[in-house]
Amino acid sequence: MPPAKETLLDTLLPAGHAALKQASAVLNDGGLVGIPTETVYGLAADATNGAAVASIYAAKGRPQFNPLISHVDGIEMASRFGILDARAEEMVRLFWPGSLTMVVPRQFDSKVNELVTAGLDTIAIRCPDNHFTRSLIEIINRPVAAPSANPSGRLSPTSAVAVREAFTSDVLPLVVDDGHCPMGLESTIVACLPDKPLTILRPGAVTLDDLQAVFGKDEVQVHEADFKDQAKPAAPGMLLSHYAPKAKLTLYQAGRDAPGAGDAVLTFGGGSLSAGGQNSPLGTLDLSPEGDLNEAASNLFSMLRELDALSPETIYVIPPPCTGLGVAIYDRLQRAAAPRINT
Ligand code: TXA
Ligand code: MG
Repeated sequence: MPPAKETLLDTLLPAGHAALKQASAVLNDGGLVGIPTETVYGLAADATNGAAVASIYAAKGRPQFNPLISHVDGIEMASRFGILDARAEEMVRLFWPGSLTMVVPRQFDSKVNELVTAGLDTIAIRCPDNHFTRSLIEIINRPVAAPSANPSGRLSPTSAVAVREAFTSDVLPLVVDDGHCPMGLESTIVACLPDKPLTILRPGAVTLDDLQAVFGKDEVQVHEADFKDQAKPAAPGMLLSHYAPKAKLTLYQAGRDAPGAGDAVLTFGGGSLSAGGQNSPLGTLDLSPEGDLNEAASNLFSMLRELDALSPETIYVIPPPCTGLGVAIYDRLQRAAAPRINT
């Protein structure tokens, strides 16, 4: 049942002091806020809070864990979370705040949850050209992870009302209204990685010409495949290989599999392997002993990484149930279990 009209109005506040206070409280509390940016409205969570980030995927009904953009209030915060070379600093100077997202190596000691980066060694960072949202990020003093605030497969929203109508207030307790988004199109995404030319992963308002004018023709290229389907801006993340453990990964099947002393086990909800494995594995971790899918999603990449660091032969996984957020977790595990092409 859709929420009552008054509830919707209470949860839609104009950008200003009251909204700033409420929005920072909701984010600090691990909740989601619909935020204005100059490109499209975002569905924001504290990027350092794994369960909050997981609830973005749950709210959007995303069947896959694509990495998310971390929104910062400026270069100082960006440098706390990503490694910016001279080119990145130049792009910040010329295009920030604005609709340019940079994919740069991530700072490993940073507290951004691995679900934000989908386990990658890189992080996408953007400083939006919206005064309210920058103030909000400054107040909480942490980046906010925010995909476009639309349910998966639907159009990106350019008005607060569109966001409010797309989510119930129990999922999204607050949307901040700062009018129509002036750009209306998602940001340009540029990979800025060591020893590689700048590479446009998603076209946007900052164009190839803009970048070539600054860095030279040979120093900027386009990831061609991404232009095939512009209706699906999620494509760049899907084209990049997500984090895959070095160890072989197998979805555990009782009766078929017998993990040995050289293996590791990733389980869910206190699940255990059926009897027979006399040798205790190198390591066992539980995605969520209480069986909470949000918690499981937020632990997925970091726990895979932790088990992989033990150099097991195989990581056996007892996956969570394939419902709700479990669908995305299962999708990710299946990909990690698929035969490797390049390793
Ligand atoms: O304008 C925008 O960028 C909006 C507003 C809200 O800021 N946000 C947005 O987010 O469009 P989203 O999640 O819809 O798109 C993020 C894109 C995805 O295609 C994802 O694959 C890519 O960024 N991405 C994020 N991190 C990445 C990474 N480390 N490497 C490559 N691609 C990445
Ligand atoms: Mg989107």
